[in-house]
Amino acid sequence: MPELTVLAPAKINLHLEVLGLRADGYHELAMVMQSLDLADTLVFNPTADGQISLRCDNPDLPTDGSNLIIRAAELLRARSGLPELGARIDLQKRIPIGAGLAGGSSDGAAALVGLNALWGCGFAAAELQAMATALGSDMPFCLDGGTQLCFGRGERLEPLGLPQPPSLGVLLIKHPQASVSTPWAYGRCRELRGDFYLEHEADFEQRRQALRQGPLVAALAGEGPLPRLRNDLQAVVEPQVESVGEGLALLRGLEGALAVAMSGSGPSLFALFPNLDDASAAQAALAGPLEAAGFESWCCRCTGSGATLDPAAAPL
Ligand code: C5P
Repeated sequence: MPELTVLAPAKINLHLEVLGLRADGYHELAMVMQSLDLADTLVFNPTADGQISLRCDNPDLPTDGSNLIIRAAELLRARSGLPELGARIDLQKRIPIGAGLAGGSSDGAAALVGLNALWGCGFAAAELQAMATALGSDMPFCLDGGTQLCFGRGERLEPLGLPQPPSLGVLLIKHPQASVSTPWAYGRCRELRGDFYLEHEADFEQRRQALRQGPLVAALAGEGPLPRLRNDLQAVVEPQVESVGEGLALLRGLEGALAVAMSGSGPSLFALFPNLDDASAAQAALAGPLEAAGFESWCCRCTGSGATLDPAAAPL
């Protein structure tokens, strides 16, 4: 069996609304997620010794059993009932780590897709979705990708069904020293806002419906201007992480930016532009201040794909 390559795209949250607390302790969310063409690459080779090993070009990333790639591989192998299956996995990391861009979740989703093919497991999309849900809240979206409404703890997906991905250009920035723990951000959100959480399914559904019928979804379908973006974790993280407030101020000062927000639980931040050229021009215009404040930056497009097998045959 020849080696096999899978692309694992980053995502941003165009909307992240915390609705309430669930019986399982997770938060009930209403989100719009968008895949980007900023992606990690995973290369899979079969081994006959029953070992699953991971190498990564970024030494900051743990490659042991805590990595979602290994956890996904072990879950898939356990479900297949074939303990002799093994793989050597090489990860080329491009998505910044601990950034709120779902890099780890997307790598895990790519491992499910890649190993399902490499090992010939033959699991259907719905079975991979169930495994993804067991592994992490963002993973089901990362399997499918594109532009989707995500409800529940993130695993209830409603694709917007756009004929093509939004043509927006995205300028992403992140301070390399800043990182945010997702459990901490949700825990702090509960401390600050828990008294105001909704409690009833009927109220959750009302908020979901407002999002489905609201101006953001209309704008993404090309039917109106982008509204101000909402991320409820932004107000929680901003006072604690200096680079978030600083970066938001830099992005808000950009001419031509359609919207500015934090992604997920941060600390990565993004500005949206009508197209990639405008995003690149803004990146160049902001190069001095970004460097002075120590930020890294990336320009990318939206993509309609999630974890993609054989990217040569199906480019992002
Ligand atoms: O599902 P995942 O392991 O990615 O979630 C990481 C943590 O983020 C959870 O342990 C929980 O603290 C928090 N979380 C949450 N509600 C969600 C998703 C995540 O409270 N819907």
